[in-house]
Amino acid sequence: MKRSLFLLVVTAVVFAACARTQEAGSLNDPRVDKLMKRMTLDEKVGQLVLFTSDWTVTGPSMRQGYIDDIRAGRCGNIFNAYTADYTRKMQEIAVNETRLGIPLLFGYDVIHGFRTIFPINLGLSSSWDPQAIEEASRIAAREATAAGLHWTFSPMCDISVEPRWGRISEGAGEDPFLGSAISAAMTRGYQGEDLSDPATLLACVKHYAAYGAPQAGRDYNTVDMSERWLREFYLPPYKAAVEAGALSVMASFNELDGVPATANSFLLKDVLRDEWGFKGFVVSDYTGINEMVCHGYAADEADAGRLAINAGMDMDMQSASYFNYLKDLVQSGKVSRHTLDESVRRVLNVKAALGLFDDPYKYCSPEREATETLTEENKAFARSLAAESMVLLSNDGTLPLRKGEKIAVIGALADSKDDLLGSWRGAGEVQSVPASILDAIREAAGPGNVVYAEGCKEMGEDRSGFSRALTAAYGASKVVLVIGEDCQWSGEAASRSDIRIPGVQSELLQKLAATGKPVAVVLLNGRPLDLSEDLPYAGAMLEAWFPGTMGGYAVADVLFGDVNPSGKLSVTFPRNLGQVPIYHYAKNTGRPYVHPEAKYESRYLDVPNEPLFAFGHGLSYTSFEYSPVELSAASFSGEGGITASVTVTNTGEVEGTETVQMYIRDLVGSVTRPVKQLKGFERVRLAPGESREVVFDIDAATLSFYRADMTWGPESGEFKVFIGGASDKVNEASFSYLD
Ligand code: GLC
Repeated sequence: MKRSLFLLVVTAVVFAACARTQEAGSLNDPRVDKLMKRMTLDEKVGQLVLFTSDWTVTGPSMRQGYIDDIRAGRCGNIFNAYTADYTRKMQEIAVNETRLGIPLLFGYDVIHGFRTIFPINLGLSSSWDPQAIEEASRIAAREATAAGLHWTFSPMCDISVEPRWGRISEGAGEDPFLGSAISAAMTRGYQGEDLSDPATLLACVKHYAAYGAPQAGRDYNTVDMSERWLREFYLPPYKAAVEAGALSVMASFNELDGVPATANSFLLKDVLRDEWGFKGFVVSDYTGINEMVCHGYAADEADAGRLAINAGMDMDMQSASYFNYLKDLVQSGKVSRHTLDESVRRVLNVKAALGLFDDPYKYCSPEREATETLTEENKAFARSLAAESMVLLSNDGTLPLRKGEKIAVIGALADSKDDLLGSWRGAGEVQSVPASILDAIREAAGPGNVVYAEGCKEMGEDRSGFSRALTAAYGASKVVLVIGEDCQWSGEAASRSDIRIPGVQSELLQKLAATGKPVAVVLLNGRPLDLSEDLPYAGAMLEAWFPGTMGGYAVADVLFGDVNPSGKLSVTFPRNLGQVPIYHYAKNTGRPYVHPEAKYESRYLDVPNEPLFAFGHGLSYTSFEYSPVELSAASFSGEGGITASVTVTNTGEVEGTETVQMYIRDLVGSVTRPVKQLKGFERVRLAPGESREVVFDIDAATLSFYRADMTWGPESGEFKVFIGGASDKVNEASFSYLD
């Protein structure tokens, strides 16, 4: 009897210790509760305040008022301030000069790299390479933490089918399956296995939610969609990042179903906390709280603060609503002490998880800052990933270029280093860009083989440079024309009502084509463009996005065939704006356009229904052949499953990488189903003549969706599976499923 009692006691003690350890790992650090018992109301409010540093020519500088607030414990978090020295300076104030010495949290927009800048996220997603994107995020985390930062406002998980919206450049395109894989990869890359490691960075899932669906594509505009559509096509990437362990979420500026996301308890509590089990903290987007007054949802900024925190908004970025009114709201009972404590506890537990309570200065290392940023390895990786993100849209054989042939390089963007970095390069600096596209082509082509003429700028009506450009073209064997958008024509607050190539660039293309010289067009842009008028004049079109610090060299690597392009579009390119929104997971409608001469079918009078370039489109310098789709069985039921496989063969002369895509269609559902949904993809590298079998699993989860009663799950019925190198180039097979 004594022995079993002893064993019982031992087990209980061991269990309690594990639970405590587990609690600490699950954001329940025992030091937090002890600390909170000692905190005043002012100090608690201070932990929910996030203020920005200014950035002057001498570097970051917190306004004196903010520094006084930090010293008084009224501001516990700052952003836009980095360098190891400056963050140490600020941290010393918080740790040594405040009553409780609670460490500051330092945040920053590390969107696609910190000092080594990778392609913009829409470019990264075109690589369809989550592993590489994870590595890029890991590099960004190492560089950012070496500069004293703890927290990035990334990954941006907003799905979008809106090319007018400038911030489509910051996301992973239109597809929830690809977007989810990328959001999770970026989160893993930032946070690693141990958030207290000084080289890992707190991720922030943004902009929650559905910010990418603004009406008319105008930034900050109204978002309204059914809950079904929200859950099926917009929420998955946020959820994937939360499931990957992200410990902060940023609410979006937009309203959803009439309620601003900043105070939308359906999003912040019902879905994020109750359904997804999110344990971290939620931060508003810049002044999002007091913007609810303009939304017409809050009577004034105090009311906005009340609505926000009661809906689950933990931290106030820059609006100062919490700073000014939260204490009174608590003292007046409009906000309960429990609500306040819950928010403070979440913030402090994340600071503990970062290791800041163990060593507030662990991220302030000038030695790391001097040795871990812009390393040759980081730049080499950025160069290869930039090349991998580029999409060969068309090619009549103009590409690849041959080294030694005479090339006329034309276009202002060819000679720009700044535009390579995109609109949200954060700490990326132009002086770190080693080469423009022109510089890199000159190096690759060999001395004396390149002539340059600006031709025209990326905006404006000045045609005075056309004649010199045409002269350059006549003197060359091929033309490389670099055109597109200024890097500030996408990104935040950069919506366009016209998605064609701006200015007189298209006119220049047509004149260059009229010389009879083959023209390879390189596109620098941050959104899907309407290229319908340009495509016929281009011998080849390479979508290069804004390819980052090493983008100049990466473009040259692809143009000369040192890298065989493998990118695939992660967003549909329409024929014109009139087709928008256009995406691959469209519904069939009751009158699908199937009879070319029919009138009463879902069609346009002036353009085909198909886009100019479909989701998943991307060419190579080699060619790939797909076998028919093989199924392991014609049907399956319940928890079973089948496989769908193809054999892909490189039928060309050079090695290449192909992203094999698998789509599913549910022919009949309790609600209508898309004609295609991406449910799998795999990158395969094949030598000339090499074949590889690619196998995809299909099971009940693959077929699941929000059924008529809004439950998630499969339904019995007939299905099609499509496999190919683009959503519009697939082989198909049919199978059935019995639930
Ligand atoms: C901006 C953006 C958000 C960014 C934040 C901090 O307005 O919407 O993406 O993280 O403010 O810079």
